[in-house]
Amino acid sequence: MLLARALASTGPLRLLDVMAGCGIRGLRVGLEAGATAVWANDADPDRLPLLSANLAPLSAAGCALRTTALTAQQLLAGCLQRRERFELVDLDAFGCPTALLPLALEAVSLDGVLYLASSDGRSPTGHDRPAAVRRFGAAARAHPASWELALRLQLGSVARCAWALGRGVEPLLAFSEGRTFRTAVRLRRRPARGEEGQLGLIALCHGCGDQQVQSLLSLRQWQPCACAPGTAPPLAISGPLWIGPLQHPPTLEAVLRQAEAEAEAEAVPRSVAAASRRLLAALHADPGLPARCWPLAEIARRMGRGGPPKLTALVEALRRLGHGAWASGVMAGQLRSDAPWPLILELAARLGGAGAADAAK
Ligand SMILES: C[S@@+](CC[C@H](N)C(=O)[O-])C[C@H]1O[C@@H](n2cnc3c(N)ncnc32)[C@H](O)[C@@H]1O
Ligand SMILES: [Zn+2]
Repeated sequence: MLLARALASTGPLRLLDVMAGCGIRGLRVGLEAGATAVWANDADPDRLPLLSANLAPLSAAGCALRTTALTAQQLLAGCLQRRERFELVDLDAFGCPTALLPLALEAVSLDGVLYLASSDGRSPTGHDRPAAVRRFGAAARAHPASWELALRLQLGSVARCAWALGRGVEPLLAFSEGRTFRTAVRLRRRPARGEEGQLGLIALCHGCGDQQVQSLLSLRQWQPCACAPGTAPPLAISGPLWIGPLQHPPTLEAVLRQAEAEAEAEAVPRSVAAASRRLLAALHADPGLPARCWPLAEIARRMGRGGPPKLTALVEALRRLGHGAWASGVMAGQLRSDAPWPLILELAARLGGAGAADAAK
């Protein structure tokens, strides 16, 4: 809803809610974000009377309303035929919506946003590798930052579809609670310079835990990992997937500002829960780059001595040495860093060991 409001602040907002369920999103985008038009659709015809009744307040509020019971395929094909486009297309699917992506992107106006959800958690997290090949055209291997991998596979699919249509993409938001994977992507008239370099591969060594990232544009040999020579198992390689930024800082700033203003204005009914504000703040504090993340528990397991360090202390120590380091906004308790893996483990051992010694005093 905050994103819809941010979009509405720059011009008229028309929403196409492709899988509307009971219509709650259309109702809120109409009433709270001031959309000028809402089209709420759900394939289940039994929902149509409920949709119409739930959304009736929109007409009274001056928002043009349409409700239909078409399949997403029929709805989007019709939009393409009529060349109808929307500033916000919401595709909140059961399962994986890849098959609908080309038509859904055709329904997004230039500089408009596709807000995508997938409840398929198995294939993008390495638990169903054949399905990942079918749905994403990609390898998905078990990985400690599994939610992030799923979001990156989803963004990779959106980018490839958009590029095939001659368009560019700009991810605005990407987040998950582990069951549903949600991304909001702005559609650009054409790809930005170097945008194709954001599609790549992520390699993980299950032997030492090291991770490497490569762009498909400049693919070469993988570097030796931290395993002793001759002992490294084959790398587990995932992708092609999106290796670029996951969040768009100006968009997050805009939605955070709104959320905080609403929290401070006592008179306004609170529509942004404290947990949502915390999530937005965590996403804002994490650029989502590079695509190398490790859980603290794994760092502790691999560093050999002492308890796990505090994430903030590890981030600060890595930054003091000139490396990029952040707490992941996507998965709690994970470190994101571009630092060499052996250095991360060495610093963690020093900090964890010191922390454990302090605690024992
Ligand atoms: C995850 S729910 C949507 C929930 C809704 N966005 C909300 O916030 O309450 C998915 C909906 O998609 C509908 N659906 C399933 N397959 C569809 C299809 N092919 N085309 C259109 N709607 C479909 C289902 O009837 C269901 O209501
Ligand atoms: Zn290794």
